[in-house]
Amino acid sequence: MSEERKEKITSKSDPEVVGIEVLKKSGLDVDKLIEKLVRATAAEFTTYYYYTILRMHLTGMDGEGLKEIAEDARLEDRLHFELMTQRLYELGGNLPKDMREVANVSACSDPYLLENWKDSKNILKVLLEAEQCAIRTWNEVCEMTHGKDPRTYDLAQRILQEEIEHEAWFLELLYGRPSGHFRRSYPGEGPLSRKTRTG
Ligand SMILES: [Fe+2]
Ligand SMILES: [Fe+2]
Repeated sequence: MSEERKEKITSKSDPEVVGIEVLKKSGLDVDKLIEKLVRATAAEFTTYYYYTILRMHLTGMDGEGLKEIAEDARLEDRLHFELMTQRLYELGGNLPKDMREVANVSACSDPYLLENWKDSKNILKVLLEAEQCAIRTWNEVCEMTHGKDPRTYDLAQRILQEEIEHEAWFLELLYGRPSGHFRRSYPGEGPLSRKTRTG
């Protein structure tokens, strides 16, 4: 073993992280990516929280038929949060220590319950806007990482694909624009974002 290698292995300084070094070599601004991922991941968590409230208010005859679809979008946002949180820490980043900060740094504005929530269409419009912000955000992550960081790109594109589906679902409900939607196999399945047992 070379002296240099021995030195690296026995040194008490920060460990070598080859998974990050290769990204820097490929020209990726890792700090900028981490900042972007913190904001994007925070948005998934806040959206999951606010969607819980929105789903609770899909009531009455109209609301009943919308609950399931809102529940899928809500649970899949939680999967998105979990999927990218792991990557964030691999990259040397971290979530804000204080949960209050999570809402402050979120990449998307909070999908609040409106005063006139009894009209389900108003809730659907809030849901649609949140999905559209998520698409823009994850698309930016894909653009930043394409050809430079295969792992982050793979995770971000899986999330992006589900966000595009979510947008299409709410567009269909609001405007009758066909989306090809059919119910998930089980609530919040996350066909692309659910981690496998080994993943
Ligand atoms: Fe999401
Ligand atoms: Fe979504």
